[in-house]
Amino acid sequence: MALRIVYSVGKGGVGKTTCAAGLALQASRVWPTLVVSLDPAHNLGDVIGRRLSGEATAVSSNLWASEVDMDAAVAGYLADSTRRLQSMYGYLKTINLDGYLDALKLSPGIEEYATLQVMERLLGDAAGRYDVVVFDTPPTGLTLRVLALPRVSLLWGERLSGLRREILDRRQILRNIHGERKYVIDGVEHALATDEKSDGVMGELRDYVDRMRRLTALQADASQTRVMPVMNPDRLSLFETQRALETLRSLGMPIGPVIVNKVGLKPTDGQTVQDIGRALGLPTRILPFTSTEPVGLEALELLTSTMDFREWIPGPRTT
Ligand SMILES: Nc1ncnc2c1ncn2[C@@H]1O[C@H](COP(=O)(O)OP(=O)(O)OP(=O)(O)O)[C@@H](O)[C@H]1O
Ligand SMILES: [Mg+2]
Repeated sequence: MALRIVYSVGKGGVGKTTCAAGLALQASRVWPTLVVSLDPAHNLGDVIGRRLSGEATAVSSNLWASEVDMDAAVAGYLADSTRRLQSMYGYLKTINLDGYLDALKLSPGIEEYATLQVMERLLGDAAGRYDVVVFDTPPTGLTLRVLALPRVSLLWGERLSGLRREILDRRQILRNIHGERKYVIDGVEHALATDEKSDGVMGELRDYVDRMRRLTALQADASQTRVMPVMNPDRLSLFETQRALETLRSLGMPIGPVIVNKVGLKPTDGQTVQDIGRALGLPTRILPFTSTEPVGLEALELLTSTMDFREWIPGPRTT
């Protein structure tokens, strides 16, 4: 079966990690499931009650969990970008790449791109091993920026491809006039590509656009992707959820029922949940506030056993 991907999304502290772990635990009764934290401040291991690492650890039969080292992911992303750049522009070895790297490190969006790359790799590795991957995401702002990246990057990639095509066309015109020119740098001869096939930059751009197009399509594919919004019965949580849902909808992401977690602390919570459902225009599902923190698989099982977990698993219901 094709991989099914669930994103647990919500404001800080509402219970994203708890719900991601609970959903994964329930899903693992039926499918091999991986729950993975992309939050730079991990607590998935605390919630499950096991020490986790970047490698998937088996935490019960059919359930695996991991916490991605996001600092290492950012460093890896930077190293990757530099390698690509070096192979594309051999002659850049002669200029100060370290300076370039320093600038790249501080560029806005690096954390988002690194997170996206981690997600993409995880999904590639997970295919065939697991049927369900549940992402425990960082708080809303970063998550939304990461999820918006494929679409934004696709637009950029297409635009840059157009510009590159214009450059190649102009080079071709110059070549027709002046003949082919070679440049010798460090004793190595370089000829400037004039057609799309032999141009390394164009090849990179084409791969990039393909990747972003695939990711954009995957995000909007209801048979593979679903968002599990998590919130608490309070107004601030509602406002943030409203804004988040607006963005997620604009990205075409399929959205499951909203989990209203920690219900029952206030006598008015029942009414608040009804108001939330009306305000969001989505079905709501309640998880009660428990007097002891739901930590460890047993407690998670207890908290989420009444959840019809299939509501958040994308695709047709097979069981
Ligand atoms: N239904 C519940 N009843 C009681 N406590 C809960 C419940 N759900 C979550 N908690 C507790 O609330 C705290 C926050 O939960 P959790 O870590 O899952 O939230 P989060 O949204 O992932 O937070 P962060 O934004 O920090 O990642 C934890 O101490 C957790 O044990
Ligand atoms: Mg968390």
